[in-house]
Amino acid sequence: MAERRKLGILISGRGSNMAALIDAASAPDCPWQVVLVASNDPDAAGLARAKVAGVPTFALSHRGMQREVFDGHLTEALRAHGAEWVALAGYMRLLSPGFVADWAGRLVNIHPSLLPRHKGLDTHARALAAGDAEAGASVHFVTDVLDDGPVIAQARVPVRPGDTAETLAARVLVEENRLYPQALRKAMRDAE
Ligand code: GRF
Repeated sequence: MAERRKLGILISGRGSNMAALIDAASAPDCPWQVVLVASNDPDAAGLARAKVAGVPTFALSHRGMQREVFDGHLTEALRAHGAEWVALAGYMRLLSPGFVADWAGRLVNIHPSLLPRHKGLDTHARALAAGDAEAGASVHFVTDVLDDGPVIAQARVPVRPGDTAETLAARVLVEENRLYPQALRKAMRDAE
C-alpha cells in the first residue's frame, strides 16, 4: 500500500467526527493515519477520546491571542507531528488567511447543512425556519470564505414533522459521522 497521508484533526468540542476519522484509520486500506488532534479548548471532550485512541493531542486556548499568532502555533504543532492534511471536525474558530494558504488543497471541513444553503451557525434551526424538506451535511475544502470552498461530498436526511433543531441535528450527525471518512477518502484519492 502507498504510504498513508499524515492527518491532523482540529476540534473544539465533543469530537464525534474526529472519532469517526480515527476509527476509519483502523481499516487496512485507509489512506490516512491520524498524527495529531489539536483543540483551541483545553476542556474539549474530544481530547480525552483521542487520548484513549492513542492519538497525540495538543491543546491551547486561543483566548487573548491574535488569530494569526494562535494559528501559527497550530501549524507549528501540526508540522512537528508531520501532518500533511488537516481535517476540521467541529472546530469553531475562523482560520486566518495565512493558515488557509499554508494548508490549501489539503484542508477540509464538515458543515452540518446542504451547502450552499445555511452557511455559518444554527444551521438546523435555520433549515426548519426555512421550511426545508431535507437537511444534511457537506464535506468541503476550506478557502478564505466561511463554509464556501468546493464541496467534496454531501449526505441528505429528511426533515420530519415535529422536528426540533435538536432532533434534526441528531439525525444529521449520524450521517456526518458516516460521510466524513468517505469524503476524505475521495478527496485524497482525487488529489493523487
Ligand atoms: C458537527 O455538527 C459539525 O458539522 C459542526 O459541529 C459539530 C461537531 O460535532 N461543525 P462533533 O464535535 O464532531 O461531534
